Amino acid sequence: MSPKRKLNFSSGPAALPEDVLRNAQAALLDLDGSGIGILEHSHRGKEFGRVLERTESLIREVGNIGSDYAVLFVTAGATHHFAMVPQNFLGAGETADYCDTGIWSGKAIEEARRVGSVHVACTSGPAYDATPVHQSWSAAPRYVHYTSNETIYGTQWAAPPRAPAPLVCDASSDIFSRPLSLDGHGLIYAGAQKNLGPSGISLVIARKDFIATGSKDLPPLSQYRTYADEKSMHNTPNTFGVYVIGEVVAWIKAQGGLAVMGERNAAKAKILYDFLDRSNAWKGHAQPHSRSIMNITFRGATKELEETMLALAEERGLSGLRGHRSVGGLRASIYNAFPAEGVHRLVELLDEVERGRA
Ligand SMILES: Cc1ncc(COP(=O)(O)O)c(C=O)c1O
Repeated sequence: MSPKRKLNFSSGPAALPEDVLRNAQAALLDLDGSGIGILEHSHRGKEFGRVLERTESLIREVGNIGSDYAVLFVTAGATHHFAMVPQNFLGAGETADYCDTGIWSGKAIEEARRVGSVHVACTSGPAYDATPVHQSWSAAPRYVHYTSNETIYGTQWAAPPRAPAPLVCDASSDIFSRPLSLDGHGLIYAGAQKNLGPSGISLVIARKDFIATGSKDLPPLSQYRTYADEKSMHNTPNTFGVYVIGEVVAWIKAQGGLAVMGERNAAKAKILYDFLDRSNAWKGHAQPHSRSIMNITFRGATKELEETMLALAEERGLSGLRGHRSVGGLRASIYNAFPAEGVHRLVELLDEVERGRA
């Protein structure tokens, strides 16, 4: 890691691989020897055409995604899909089931309720320290929505819920952090700014036959069908975002793919969870069976301890550890590109603060 760069624990936008940033730096001036930078190329030109094709084919290869699924790039964050999913799939007289595991699924539920009938099939509230074990599905849900990783509370589904309808997953904060399970899924959406690239663009992986069941009574850019039919090129896409995602996925492939990512991420998270389990001053929020390997949330014994730790961390180049404003405490977001060395440095500092030596 370059010595000038801080250890960035931000929950997103978040740390990206340095090799990717260097390639992007060069591509800003000159994409693939074309003499024109990535931000300057027409989206209809052959150079960007190659970028789009390469990004999609790398996503398919690394994610092991077959031709029954479409790979789409939507110029919007994950929040956009909170409304777009029910607008497309939740018709009059139908009910969609939602799993409530925290703030993000809460927002998805709120948006879906504006569109149609929603049944909350399970909840882990009010503590939101686990993913729910029991679900009570409605009679015939149109789809079942869940958030695979709750970025704010730091919980993660170990495996997708077993549901009686196509699953729709908000995978914003754990996409491509471990092998992807498409089983039972109609649609997966993910904002790119954690594991994949810049903010303001989302990746959608959706079954083609599920997309086909969506409403045709929406503006074109609100229909998943349009992105699938027009290869995400109905209008000018976020060309730079597509480029960076391609570079990040190429980096994942070079690291050994999603299985290696999953092992590495689990090992990184274990370093911190093991420390929290031993500590008398710091306590993890999530219950062991629901612990996120991406966002680790924890509290100090006192508010003063937390503030001391946060101030010292900033001084020592460990940035972005303050917990989300709605839950407080600390949160270490350790996505794919975050180095194991950074987790060791965090544990050392937490230990020093606990012993009053810092
Ligand atoms: C799980 C999850 N869903 C949705 C969002 C919202 O994403 P965006 O700000 O890109 O709309 C986030 C944000 O960070 C998130 O962590």
